[in-house]
Amino acid sequence: MDTIVSGMRPTGRLHLGHLHGALRNWVRLQKDYRCYFFVADWHALTTDYAAPQGVRQSGIEMVADWLAVGLDPERSVIFRQSAIKEHAELHLLLSMITPLGWLERNPTYKEQMREVEGKDLSTYGFLGYPVLQAADIVMYKANKVPVGIDQAPHVELTREIVRRFNQFYGAVFPEPDVLLTEMAKVPGLDGRKMSKSYNNAVFLTDAPKEIDQKLSRMMTDPARVTRKDPGEPEKCPAFNLHKIYCTPEEIDYVTKGCRTAGIGCLECKKIMIKHVIADLEPIRERRAALENRPGHVEEVLERGNRAAAQKAEETMTEVRTAVGL
Ligand code: TRP
Ligand code: SF4
Repeated sequence: MDTIVSGMRPTGRLHLGHLHGALRNWVRLQKDYRCYFFVADWHALTTDYAAPQGVRQSGIEMVADWLAVGLDPERSVIFRQSAIKEHAELHLLLSMITPLGWLERNPTYKEQMREVEGKDLSTYGFLGYPVLQAADIVMYKANKVPVGIDQAPHVELTREIVRRFNQFYGAVFPEPDVLLTEMAKVPGLDGRKMSKSYNNAVFLTDAPKEIDQKLSRMMTDPARVTRKDPGEPEKCPAFNLHKIYCTPEEIDYVTKGCRTAGIGCLECKKIMIKHVIADLEPIRERRAALENRPGHVEEVLERGNRAAAQKAEETMTEVRTAVGL
């Protein structure tokens, strides 16, 4: 059986973007792979080092959402990165062999340096973000890394680091492949990328009434200024959710209705909203049940940490020998 590793930075409550961009896929992968899913809390510090107070609690809330969506601790190892100190050791060893140029050329790095405001990212840790990620991946000898396209360069860098490591020290690690998640696009309520920090997200734990209110005012094709103006679904942020949630007949009905101004945007969105509410209902119920089991998420993590530690110790014994320490 192949091994999969993937992580998420702890951002607290998860939203529809996480559900369709990663989680549903993770849940499916559990059947066919040995899976390691972890809270990338050290990665969170690469950008939030100045205000890390919420990281621990955000991680717990995030894992509660994972469980509510269907990640199963009986099948997958669910753990916290910072609990496994071997990640830090492997990160250090990999950093020795990683040329600076590879990191400076990394597109994600360049983009974030350009675009992130209000945080000083010219740190050693932030530059080394992908080296830490490489350590996360190879620690469990992953063959596949399920990520979205934005993370593909990091996995590519992991492959390059693995090749270099294996050249120097012998064939220790497999080269992991990207398992590209077919990402359904989920824009936020304002049409930008859905993100907690943009205040444009529908959270997995939102109550039906909240979901209805939020999506009822979600941005649509700006060409539909009045009810009489026809629109184009492909230019409508809300329609991305129709594409995920509606039946082919409904898609057909709203597409025609939109182009002919036969239906209004609210009527159109209501057709999609009922599906979103129905889809999130069982997630919300399981999440609420978890609220009544204080300490359960922590226990799940403890158990996962122990399983991860076992594999990590095994790998590091091999690594230390290979490197000659
Ligand atoms: N960089 C990833 C993200 O921002 C999170 C991450 C950290 C990760 N380590 C990883 C993903 C290892 C996959 C494998 O989404
Ligand atoms: Fe979007 Fe529907 Fe309005 Fe068309 S009618 S702009 S698809 S919400």
